[in-house]
Amino acid sequence: MELSKEEERMLHGEEGEGLQKAMEVLVSIGDINDAKRLIDVKSVQISGVSYKTIGDAGLEYLKDIARTGAKAKALATLNPAGIDLEQDDKRVPEGFLKKQREIISAYERLGATASCTCTPYLAGNKPSKGEHIAWAESSAVAYANSVIGARTNRESAITALASAILGKTALYGLHLDENRLPTFTVPVTARLESPLDYSALGYYVGKNLQGIPLFKGIRPGLGGFKALSAGLATGKVSMFHVMGVTPNDLGDTTEMEALEYTEAEATGVMEELNTCEDPEIICIGCPHCSIQEIEEVVLLNPKREVWLYTARQNKTALEDRIKNPNIKIISDTCMVVQPLEEMGIKSLGTNSAKCAYYTRNLSGFDVKFDTVENLLKK
Ligand code: F3S
Repeated sequence: MELSKEEERMLHGEEGEGLQKAMEVLVSIGDINDAKRLIDVKSVQISGVSYKTIGDAGLEYLKDIARTGAKAKALATLNPAGIDLEQDDKRVPEGFLKKQREIISAYERLGATASCTCTPYLAGNKPSKGEHIAWAESSAVAYANSVIGARTNRESAITALASAILGKTALYGLHLDENRLPTFTVPVTARLESPLDYSALGYYVGKNLQGIPLFKGIRPGLGGFKALSAGLATGKVSMFHVMGVTPNDLGDTTEMEALEYTEAEATGVMEELNTCEDPEIICIGCPHCSIQEIEEVVLLNPKREVWLYTARQNKTALEDRIKNPNIKIISDTCMVVQPLEEMGIKSLGTNSAKCAYYTRNLSGFDVKFDTVENLLKK
Protein backbone atom coordinates (compact mmCIF):
# COMPACT_ATOMS: atom_id res chain seq x y z
CA MET A 1 0.00 0.00 0.00
CA GLU A 2 1.28 3.47 -0.84
CA LEU A 3 1.75 5.65 2.24
CA SER A 4 2.31 9.39 2.48
CA LYS A 5 5.42 10.68 4.23
CA GLU A 6 3.35 11.49 7.31
CA GLU A 7 1.84 7.98 7.34
CA GLU A 8 5.34 6.47 7.00
CA ARG A 9 6.47 8.50 10.01
CA MET A 10 3.49 7.29 12.04
CA LEU A 11 4.11 3.68 11.02
CA HIS A 12 7.74 3.94 12.16
CA GLY A 13 6.75 5.28 15.54
CA GLU A 14 7.96 8.84 15.04
CA GLU A 15 4.56 10.24 16.08
CA GLY A 16 4.16 8.06 19.17
CA GLU A 17 3.32 4.51 20.09
CA GLY A 18 -0.48 4.86 19.84
CA LEU A 19 -0.41 6.12 16.24
CA GLN A 20 2.14 3.47 15.37
CA LYS A 21 -0.06 0.65 16.69
CA ALA A 22 -3.06 2.05 14.83
CA MET A 23 -1.06 2.35 11.61
CA GLU A 24 0.13 -1.25 11.95
CA VAL A 25 -3.49 -2.40 12.13
CA LEU A 26 -4.66 -0.41 9.10
CA VAL A 27 -1.61 -1.22 6.97
CA SER A 28 -2.02 -4.95 7.65
CA ILE A 29 -5.71 -4.88 6.78
CA GLY A 30 -5.02 -2.71 3.72
CA ASP A 31 -2.30 -5.08 2.47
CA ILE A 32 -4.48 -8.17 2.96
CA ASN A 33 -7.25 -6.52 0.93
CA ASP A 34 -5.04 -5.01 -1.80
CA ALA A 35 -5.92 -1.45 -0.78
CA LYS A 36 -3.95 1.13 -2.75
CA ARG A 37 -3.84 3.73 0.01
CA LEU A 38 -5.49 5.13 3.12
CA ILE A 39 -8.29 7.68 2.92
CA ASP A 40 -9.58 10.18 5.49
CA VAL A 41 -12.68 9.48 7.56
CA LYS A 42 -14.48 11.84 9.94
CA SER A 43 -17.00 9.34 11.32
CA VAL A 44 -16.26 6.08 13.15
CA GLN A 45 -18.57 3.67 14.99
CA ILE A 46 -16.71 1.39 17.37
CA SER A 47 -17.94 -2.08 18.38
CA GLY A 48 -16.47 -4.23 21.12
CA VAL A 49 -17.84 -2.19 24.02
CA SER A 50 -19.59 -4.72 26.24
CA TYR A 51 -17.50 -6.63 28.75
CA LYS A 52 -19.64 -9.64 27.79
CA THR A 53 -18.22 -9.61 24.26
CA ILE A 54 -14.60 -8.43 24.72
CA GLY A 55 -13.78 -9.85 28.15
CA ASP A 56 -10.51 -9.25 30.00
CA ALA A 57 -8.33 -9.54 26.88
CA GLY A 58 -10.27 -6.74 25.19
CA LEU A 59 -10.15 -4.55 28.27
CA GLU A 60 -6.37 -4.98 28.56
CA TYR A 61 -5.94 -4.12 24.86
CA LEU A 62 -7.93 -0.91 25.33
CA LYS A 63 -6.02 0.10 28.45
CA ASP A 64 -2.79 -0.54 26.61
CA ILE A 65 -3.75 1.77 23.72
CA ALA A 66 -5.18 4.42 26.08
CA ARG A 67 -1.91 4.39 28.06
CA THR A 68 -0.09 5.69 24.95
CA GLY A 69 -2.10 8.93 25.14
CA ALA A 70 -3.52 8.46 21.61
CA LYS A 71 -6.72 10.45 20.96
CA ALA A 72 -9.40 9.96 18.32
CA LYS A 73 -9.07 12.32 15.36
CA ALA A 74 -12.49 11.34 13.96
CA LEU A 75 -15.89 11.56 15.63
CA ALA A 76 -15.89 8.14 17.30
CA THR A 77 -19.13 6.87 18.82
CA LEU A 78 -19.57 3.61 20.71
CA ASN A 79 -21.79 0.57 20.32
CA PRO A 80 -23.94 -0.61 23.23
CA ALA A 81 -22.16 -1.54 26.44
CA GLY A 82 -23.18 -4.33 28.84
CA ILE A 83 -25.13 -2.08 31.23
CA ASP A 84 -27.28 1.03 31.37
CA LEU A 85 -24.56 3.40 32.56
CA GLU A 86 -26.88 5.44 34.75
CA GLN A 87 -29.11 2.77 36.21
CA ASP A 88 -27.48 0.13 38.34
CA ASP A 89 -29.36 -3.15 38.03
CA LYS A 90 -28.68 -5.10 41.20
CA ARG A 91 -28.87 -8.36 39.27
CA VAL A 92 -25.71 -7.51 37.29
CA PRO A 93 -22.70 -9.04 39.06
CA GLU A 94 -20.42 -6.49 40.77
CA GLY A 95 -17.35 -7.70 38.86
CA PHE A 96 -19.11 -7.18 35.50
CA LEU A 97 -20.13 -3.63 36.47
CA LYS A 98 -16.58 -2.73 37.46
CA LYS A 99 -15.01 -4.10 34.29
CA GLN A 100 -17.67 -2.45 32.12
CA ARG A 101 -16.98 0.94 33.66
CA GLU A 102 -13.24 0.45 33.07
CA ILE A 103 -13.94 -0.24 29.38
CA ILE A 104 -15.99 2.95 29.01
CA SER A 105 -13.33 4.94 30.83
CA ALA A 106 -10.59 3.61 28.51
CA TYR A 107 -12.64 4.53 25.42
CA GLU A 108 -13.26 8.01 26.83
CA ARG A 109 -9.54 8.49 27.47
CA LEU A 110 -9.08 7.60 23.80
CA GLY A 111 -11.45 10.41 22.86
CA ALA A 112 -14.50 8.32 21.96
CA THR A 113 -18.01 9.52 22.82
CA ALA A 114 -19.86 7.08 25.07
CA SER A 115 -23.07 7.26 23.04
CA CYS A 116 -23.41 3.48 23.39
CA THR A 117 -26.02 2.98 20.69
CA CYS A 118 -26.14 0.87 17.54
CA THR A 119 -28.12 3.55 15.70
CA PRO A 120 -25.48 6.30 15.60
CA TYR A 121 -27.24 7.72 12.53
CA LEU A 122 -30.15 8.66 14.85
CA ALA A 123 -27.92 9.97 17.62
CA GLY A 124 -25.55 12.62 16.30
CA ASN A 125 -23.24 10.56 14.08
CA LYS A 126 -24.97 10.71 10.70
CA PRO A 127 -22.68 10.80 7.65
CA SER A 128 -23.71 12.22 4.31
CA LYS A 129 -24.25 10.48 0.98
CA GLY A 130 -20.95 9.49 -0.59
CA GLU A 131 -18.95 10.09 2.59
CA HIS A 132 -16.26 7.55 3.48
CA ILE A 133 -16.64 6.33 7.05
CA ALA A 134 -15.37 3.44 9.21
CA TRP A 135 -18.17 1.73 11.11
CA ALA A 136 -18.11 -1.58 12.93
CA GLU A 137 -21.70 -2.19 14.00
CA SER A 138 -22.99 -4.59 11.35
CA SER A 139 -26.61 -3.37 11.26
CA ALA A 140 -25.48 0.27 11.12
CA VAL A 141 -22.99 -0.59 8.37
CA ALA A 142 -25.79 -2.01 6.21
CA TYR A 143 -27.99 1.00 6.98
CA ALA A 144 -25.24 3.57 6.29
CA ASN A 145 -24.16 2.02 2.98
CA SER A 146 -27.65 1.35 1.71
CA VAL A 147 -30.07 3.92 3.10
CA ILE A 148 -27.75 6.90 3.57
CA GLY A 149 -25.39 6.11 0.70
CA ALA A 150 -22.25 6.54 2.83
CA ARG A 151 -19.34 4.12 2.27
CA THR A 152 -17.96 1.72 4.82
CA ASN A 153 -16.68 -1.81 5.10
CA ARG A 154 -17.83 -3.86 8.06
CA GLU A 155 -15.00 -2.95 10.41
CA SER A 156 -13.92 -4.96 13.42
CA ALA A 157 -13.58 -3.45 16.90
CA ILE A 158 -9.81 -3.21 16.40
CA THR A 159 -9.82 -1.67 12.91
CA ALA A 160 -12.54 0.82 13.89
CA LEU A 161 -10.51 1.94 16.89
CA ALA A 162 -7.43 2.33 14.67
CA SER A 163 -9.51 4.39 12.23
CA ALA A 164 -10.76 6.59 15.07
CA ILE A 165 -7.21 7.29 16.25
CA LEU A 166 -5.87 8.01 12.76
CA GLY A 167 -8.96 9.51 11.12
CA LYS A 168 -8.24 7.12 8.25
CA THR A 169 -9.32 3.82 6.73
CA ALA A 170 -7.97 1.59 3.97
CA LEU A 171 -9.44 2.16 0.50
CA TYR A 172 -10.94 -1.18 -0.59
CA GLY A 173 -14.23 -3.11 -0.65
CA LEU A 174 -17.40 -1.05 -0.26
CA HIS A 175 -15.48 2.23 -0.53
CA LEU A 176 -15.10 1.54 -4.27
CA ASP A 177 -17.88 2.10 -6.86
CA GLU A 178 -17.35 -1.27 -8.56
CA ASN A 179 -17.99 -3.23 -5.34
CA ARG A 180 -21.28 -1.52 -4.50
CA LEU A 181 -23.48 -2.78 -7.34
CA PRO A 182 -26.21 -5.40 -6.73
CA THR A 183 -25.21 -9.02 -7.28
CA PHE A 184 -28.65 -10.68 -7.04
CA THR A 185 -32.30 -9.66 -6.95
CA VAL A 186 -34.92 -10.43 -4.33
CA PRO A 187 -38.45 -10.19 -5.71
CA VAL A 188 -40.69 -9.92 -2.64
CA THR A 189 -44.31 -11.06 -2.79
CA ALA A 190 -44.79 -11.78 0.93
CA ARG A 191 -46.81 -9.10 2.72
CA LEU A 192 -44.52 -6.89 4.82
CA GLU A 193 -46.39 -4.87 7.41
CA SER A 194 -44.15 -4.43 10.42
CA PRO A 195 -40.45 -4.27 11.40
CA LEU A 196 -40.79 -7.97 12.28
CA ASP A 197 -41.56 -8.75 8.62
CA TYR A 198 -38.58 -6.74 7.34
CA SER A 199 -36.38 -8.32 9.96
CA ALA A 200 -37.42 -11.81 8.83
CA LEU A 201 -36.82 -10.87 5.18
CA GLY A 202 -33.30 -9.62 5.97
CA TYR A 203 -32.54 -12.70 8.03
CA TYR A 204 -33.68 -15.04 5.26
CA VAL A 205 -31.64 -13.30 2.57
CA GLY A 206 -28.54 -12.92 4.76
CA LYS A 207 -28.70 -16.59 5.62
CA ASN A 208 -29.08 -17.83 2.08
CA LEU A 209 -26.81 -15.66 -0.04
CA GLN A 210 -23.71 -13.51 0.21
CA GLY A 211 -23.33 -10.37 -1.85
CA ILE A 212 -25.47 -7.28 -2.43
CA PRO A 213 -29.22 -7.85 -2.84
CA LEU A 214 -31.53 -5.67 -4.88
CA PHE A 215 -35.00 -5.88 -3.35
CA LYS A 216 -37.99 -5.42 -5.61
CA GLY A 217 -41.55 -4.75 -4.49
CA ILE A 218 -40.93 -3.23 -1.05
CA ARG A 219 -41.01 0.32 0.37
CA PRO A 220 -39.70 0.29 3.95
CA GLY A 221 -39.95 3.29 6.27
CA LEU A 222 -37.37 4.04 8.97
CA GLY A 223 -38.39 1.09 11.19
CA GLY A 224 -38.44 -1.26 8.20
CA PHE A 225 -35.01 -0.16 7.02
CA LYS A 226 -33.50 -0.56 10.49
CA ALA A 227 -35.00 -4.03 10.81
CA LEU A 228 -33.99 -5.07 7.30
CA SER A 229 -30.41 -3.86 7.87
CA ALA A 230 -30.09 -5.81 11.11
CA GLY A 231 -31.65 -8.95 9.63
CA LEU A 232 -29.27 -8.89 6.67
CA ALA A 233 -26.30 -8.20 8.92
CA THR A 234 -27.05 -11.37 10.87
CA GLY A 235 -25.62 -12.98 7.74
CA LYS A 236 -22.72 -11.40 5.89
CA VAL A 237 -24.62 -8.72 3.96
CA SER A 238 -23.27 -5.20 4.48
CA MET A 239 -25.12 -3.40 1.70
CA PHE A 240 -28.40 -3.68 -0.19
CA HIS A 241 -30.54 -1.75 -2.66
CA VAL A 242 -34.29 -1.27 -2.85
CA MET A 243 -35.53 -0.61 -6.39
CA GLY A 244 -36.77 2.95 -6.70
CA VAL A 245 -36.04 3.82 -3.05
CA THR A 246 -32.36 3.67 -2.00
CA PRO A 247 -29.87 6.24 -3.29
CA ASN A 248 -27.03 4.17 -4.80
CA ASP A 249 -26.33 3.30 -8.44
CA LEU A 250 -27.69 -0.05 -9.63
CA GLY A 251 -25.66 -0.60 -12.81
CA ASP A 252 -26.95 -3.24 -15.21
CA THR A 253 -29.54 -5.32 -13.34
CA THR A 254 -30.38 -7.78 -16.11
CA GLU A 255 -29.42 -11.44 -15.84
CA MET A 256 -28.89 -11.55 -12.10
CA GLU A 257 -29.72 -14.56 -9.98
CA ALA A 258 -33.05 -14.14 -8.13
CA LEU A 259 -33.91 -15.26 -4.61
CA GLU A 260 -37.68 -15.13 -4.21
CA TYR A 261 -39.29 -14.22 -0.92
CA THR A 262 -42.89 -15.39 -0.73
CA GLU A 263 -45.28 -16.11 2.15
CA ALA A 264 -43.74 -19.59 2.34
CA GLU A 265 -40.24 -18.24 3.10
CA ALA A 266 -41.67 -15.74 5.61
CA THR A 267 -43.50 -18.55 7.40
CA GLY A 268 -40.31 -20.64 7.41
CA VAL A 269 -38.40 -17.90 9.23
CA MET A 270 -41.15 -17.59 11.84
CA GLU A 271 -41.04 -21.33 12.46
CA GLU A 272 -37.26 -21.39 12.64
CA LEU A 273 -36.85 -18.53 15.11
CA ASN A 274 -39.71 -19.35 17.48
CA THR A 275 -38.85 -21.75 20.26
CA CYS A 276 -41.27 -20.77 23.03
CA GLU A 277 -44.72 -19.34 23.63
CA ASP A 278 -44.46 -17.55 26.95
CA PRO A 279 -41.13 -15.72 27.40
CA GLU A 280 -40.04 -14.24 30.74
CA ILE A 281 -39.34 -10.76 29.35
CA ILE A 282 -40.17 -8.76 26.22
CA CYS A 283 -37.23 -6.89 24.69
CA ILE A 284 -37.81 -4.39 21.86
CA GLY A 285 -35.05 -2.32 20.31
CA CYS A 286 -32.70 -4.41 18.16
CA PRO A 287 -31.50 -2.16 16.58
CA HIS A 288 -32.15 0.53 19.19
CA CYS A 289 -35.64 2.05 19.05
CA SER A 290 -36.26 5.38 17.39
CA ILE A 291 -38.45 7.87 19.26
CA GLN A 292 -41.32 6.94 16.95
CA GLU A 293 -40.99 3.23 17.78
CA ILE A 294 -41.11 4.01 21.50
CA GLU A 295 -44.18 6.17 21.01
CA GLU A 296 -45.88 3.32 19.15
CA VAL A 297 -45.35 1.02 22.14
CA VAL A 298 -46.63 3.71 24.51
CA LEU A 299 -49.83 3.93 22.44
CA LEU A 300 -50.36 0.18 22.90
CA ASN A 301 -50.51 0.82 26.66
CA PRO A 302 -48.90 -2.56 27.53
CA LYS A 303 -50.33 -4.58 30.38
CA ARG A 304 -47.18 -6.63 30.74
CA GLU A 305 -43.62 -5.43 31.30
CA VAL A 306 -41.63 -4.48 28.20
CA TRP A 307 -37.98 -3.41 28.01
CA LEU A 308 -37.33 -0.82 25.30
CA TYR A 309 -33.70 -0.29 24.32
CA THR A 310 -32.73 3.05 22.84
CA ALA A 311 -30.07 5.75 22.68
CA ARG A 312 -29.61 7.75 25.88
CA GLN A 313 -30.81 10.99 24.29
CA ASN A 314 -34.16 9.33 23.46
CA LYS A 315 -34.46 8.00 26.98
CA THR A 316 -33.78 11.46 28.39
CA ALA A 317 -36.28 13.06 26.02
CA LEU A 318 -39.11 10.61 26.70
CA GLU A 319 -38.73 9.24 30.21
CA ASP A 320 -40.79 11.84 32.03
CA ARG A 321 -43.65 11.52 29.55
CA ILE A 322 -44.06 7.79 30.02
CA LYS A 323 -46.53 7.05 32.81
CA ASN A 324 -47.13 3.33 32.23
CA PRO A 325 -44.97 1.48 34.81
CA ASN A 326 -44.80 -1.57 32.53
CA ILE A 327 -42.60 0.34 30.07
CA LYS A 328 -38.93 0.28 31.08
CA ILE A 329 -36.64 2.36 28.91
CA ILE A 330 -33.06 1.15 28.93
CA SER A 331 -30.17 2.94 27.22
CA ASP A 332 -26.44 2.35 26.60
CA THR A 333 -26.91 -1.41 26.26
CA CYS A 334 -28.95 -4.07 24.48
CA MET A 335 -30.46 -7.47 25.25
CA VAL A 336 -27.73 -9.28 23.31
CA VAL A 337 -24.69 -7.72 25.01
CA GLN A 338 -26.23 -7.42 28.49
CA PRO A 339 -25.36 -10.30 30.82
CA LEU A 340 -28.99 -11.46 30.88
CA GLU A 341 -27.98 -15.05 31.69
CA GLU A 342 -26.11 -13.85 34.75
CA MET A 343 -29.23 -11.89 35.69
CA GLY A 344 -31.14 -15.19 35.81
CA ILE A 345 -33.13 -14.78 32.58
CA LYS A 346 -33.56 -17.72 30.18
CA SER A 347 -36.18 -16.66 27.61
CA LEU A 348 -37.31 -13.50 25.86
CA GLY A 349 -39.74 -12.17 23.31
CA THR A 350 -38.55 -9.96 20.46
CA ASN A 351 -39.60 -8.62 17.07
CA SER A 352 -35.97 -8.75 15.84
CA ALA A 353 -34.51 -11.69 13.95
CA LYS A 354 -31.00 -10.54 14.89
CA CYS A 355 -31.89 -10.57 18.57
CA ALA A 356 -33.64 -13.93 18.22
CA TYR A 357 -30.67 -15.47 16.43
CA TYR A 358 -27.97 -14.22 18.80
CA THR A 359 -29.76 -14.70 22.09
CA ARG A 360 -30.55 -18.26 21.03
CA ASN A 361 -27.15 -19.14 19.61
CA LEU A 362 -24.85 -17.20 21.93
CA SER A 363 -26.80 -17.38 25.16
CA GLY A 364 -28.98 -20.47 24.70
CA PHE A 365 -32.21 -18.57 25.27
CA ASP A 366 -35.69 -19.68 24.27
CA VAL A 367 -37.23 -17.04 22.03
CA LYS A 368 -40.67 -15.89 20.98
CA PHE A 369 -40.30 -14.01 17.69
CA ASP A 370 -43.44 -12.01 16.97
CA THR A 371 -44.87 -8.53 16.38
CA VAL A 372 -44.81 -6.02 19.22
CA GLU A 373 -48.62 -6.15 19.37
CA ASN A 374 -48.68 -9.93 19.78
CA LEU A 375 -45.79 -9.98 22.25
CA LEU A 376 -47.56 -7.51 24.49
CA LYS A 377 -50.81 -9.46 24.63
CA LYS A 378 -51.12 -10.92 28.09
FE1 F3S B 1 -28.03 -3.24 18.30
FE2 F3S B 1 -27.61 -5.06 20.10
FE3 F3S B 1 -29.22 -5.54 18.08
S1 F3S B 1 -26.08 -3.77 19.20
S2 F3S B 1 -28.48 -4.31 16.41
S3 F3S B 1 -29.53 -4.03 19.70
S4 F3S B 1 -27.70 -6.94 18.90
